[in-house]
Amino acid sequence: MLTLRFLELKDEATFLDSLEEDWEGFSYAHLYEPGMALATYLKKLEALRLGEDLKPGWVPATFLFAFVRQPDGSDRCVGRVSIRHRLLPGMEIVGGHIGYGVRPSERRKGYATEILGQSLSVAKMIGIEKAIVTCDDANLGSLRTIERNGGYLDETFPDPATGVLKRRYWIPL
Ligand SMILES: CC(C)(COP(=O)(O)OP(=O)(O)OC[C@H]1O[C@@H](n2cnc3c(N)ncnc32)[C@H](O)[C@@H]1OP(=O)(O)O)[C@@H](O)C(=O)NCCC(=O)NCCS
Repeated sequence: MLTLRFLELKDEATFLDSLEEDWEGFSYAHLYEPGMALATYLKKLEALRLGEDLKPGWVPATFLFAFVRQPDGSDRCVGRVSIRHRLLPGMEIVGGHIGYGVRPSERRKGYATEILGQSLSVAKMIGIEKAIVTCDDANLGSLRTIERNGGYLDETFPDPATGVLKRRYWIPL
C-alpha cells in the first residue's frame, strides 16, 4: 500500500502540503528552497542522482518519496528516503547510506519500516552490498525501523562532531 518512487510534477500539491508540517530539524526536502518551482527541484534531485555538479563533500544520491493511496484515489506523500550511492571517509561513521523521514502526521503507522524495506532493494540495485544506517541512540523509532529490517548493531559511539550518542547498523543486501 506504500509506493516508493521518484517525485513527479503531478505530486506538487501533496509535496507542498507535506512541507507545511513541523519536521523538527530533519532535512526532509533536501535542496528544496521555499518558492522553488517543482520542476527545478526535480532537476536538482536528478542531477544529484547522476552525480552532476556535486558540491565538495557530496556524493551521488537517489531521493525517493513514499506515497499512500487515499480513499479519493489521490496519492499522499508520507515521507522520503535518500540513498547514497557511495560513502566518503567519515560517512560510514555518521550518515551512512540510507536516511529516511516520515511526515509527523503519518508516523507510527509502519511507514518508515516499509520505506527502509523497499529502499534496501533499490540500494542493492545501485550496487551497495552492505548498507550502513546510522541513527541517534535515543531515536527509538529509527532504531526499531532498522532492526525490523534486519539491521545488525555494529557500534554505539559519540558523534565526533557533537558528542551525541549514535548507533551504527549494517544490513546485508
Ligand atoms: C524515525 C521515523 C522515521 C519513524 O517513522 P514511523 O513511520 O513512525 O516508524 P514506524 O511506524 O515504521 O515504526 C517503526 C518502529 O518504531 C517504533 N516507533 C516509532 N516511533 C517511535 C517513537 N517515537 N518512540 C518509540 N517507538 C517508536 C514503532 O512502534 C515501531 O516499532 P515496532 O515495529 O516494534 O512496533 C520518524 O519518527 C521520523 O521521520 N523521524 C524524524 C526523522 C528521523 O529521525 N529519521 C531517521 C534518521 S536516522
